[in-house]
Amino acid sequence: MTALLRTDPATIRVALGARSYDIVIGRGLIASLGMRVAALRAGANVAIVTDENVARLHLAAVEAALAGSAIAASRIIVSPGEGAKNFRVFEQVCEQMIAARVERGDLVLALGGGVVGDLAGFVASVVRRGLDYVQVPTTLLAQVDSSVGGKTAINSAHGKNLIGAFHQPVLVVADTAALDTLPAREFRSGYAEVAKYALLGDAAFFSWLETNWREVFNGGPAREHAIAVCCRAKAAIVARDERETGDRQLLNLGHTFGHALEAATGFSERLLHGEAVAAGMALAFEFSARRSLLPAAEAERAIRHLAEVGLPTEPQDIAGELPSVDRLMDLMAQDKKIKRGMPTFILTRGIGAAFVDSGVDAGDVRAFLGEKLAKR
Ligand SMILES: NC(=O)c1ccc[n+]([C@@H]2O[C@H](COP(=O)([O-])OP(=O)(O)OC[C@H]3O[C@@H](n4cnc5c(N)ncnc54)[C@H](O)[C@@H]3O)[C@@H](O)[C@H]2O)c1
Ligand SMILES: [Zn+2]
Repeated sequence: MTALLRTDPATIRVALGARSYDIVIGRGLIASLGMRVAALRAGANVAIVTDENVARLHLAAVEAALAGSAIAASRIIVSPGEGAKNFRVFEQVCEQMIAARVERGDLVLALGGGVVGDLAGFVASVVRRGLDYVQVPTTLLAQVDSSVGGKTAINSAHGKNLIGAFHQPVLVVADTAALDTLPAREFRSGYAEVAKYALLGDAAFFSWLETNWREVFNGGPAREHAIAVCCRAKAAIVARDERETGDRQLLNLGHTFGHALEAATGFSERLLHGEAVAAGMALAFEFSARRSLLPAAEAERAIRHLAEVGLPTEPQDIAGELPSVDRLMDLMAQDKKIKRGMPTFILTRGIGAAFVDSGVDAGDVRAFLGEKLAKR
């Protein structure tokens, strides 16, 4: 296996007592999956859940790796895209898993982006009252964010991720070579979450990204490093606050504004999640600077980096019509993270110094957004 790896894989422990698990990050790790699964759960059958795109590109390698360690595997393939996170597909995947005779003691393997991870994780949380699952994330967003931390969900007609469970995986294997097949726009969108970790809590990492982001995009060893830094940060936050009652909220930097923009554009190709988060983080920095929480030049530095990699940072970077300020305010008030009507904002005192502010005045936000939209 080592011959396939340019550098040794990084292993990060998510410390959650009896529910602790490892995140392994490295180039070429899919080839080692059989060995890793056998070491984790000898004799287990594996039910692979993936989507059509990922199946075409990476399923054969995963199946070969499992077969190489004599592990029996079945496959469940869903349509790509957010649409798979609904009740109908959820039911189908549950039924297929039961039909494949996946039992307690067996393993679900989520192979794909955040959609597959959220769906397969939720299925695993309920089939036979709970199966263990392994995350094999294949998008940058999934490698740095959704595969770690145990949040699983499908969507409701009332909003995204409203039906789900906290269910931690037993192992996360992030093969950074899998990202080589990811469309450039998806990679860039996922990079917004990488920048998020730097902006919310790690100024030194932000400086490092300013210098090394091109190598992260190109797939050199800097990519593994960046993903490991993000996973370490997320692991630490999740260990402190698994259920998001405190610190974990910091991971929502850019997400309150971002979700409103995503909802306003219909969760469509017009604006990918990370793109919305980038625009949302830029708004959070500018809004914080407006409130004199940090110098304007520092907010500009944060925004400049997002723009440099090609992410949207202004409402005018988003193609097509945007709704009125009133509508955006309504969308923000529907955010799942609201407490009695007013969303919690993640504001910042500088690069790497985000904090949770539940006392932001709605009138201030409305005035700020009004100004930003008027510039379109
Ligand atoms: N659970 C959490 O903590 C958490 C956190 C953040 C986001 N999410 C969820 O994650 C989802 C978004 O995840 P995503 O951005 O990974 O989207 P995704 O899973 O839809 O993947 C994006 C696209 O890339 C394709 N793809 C995946 N891997 C590929 C590869 N290696 N090569 C080529 N194509 C590939 C997919 O088929 C899809 O078309 C949302 O549903 C969001 O709610 C969950
Ligand atoms: Zn996000």
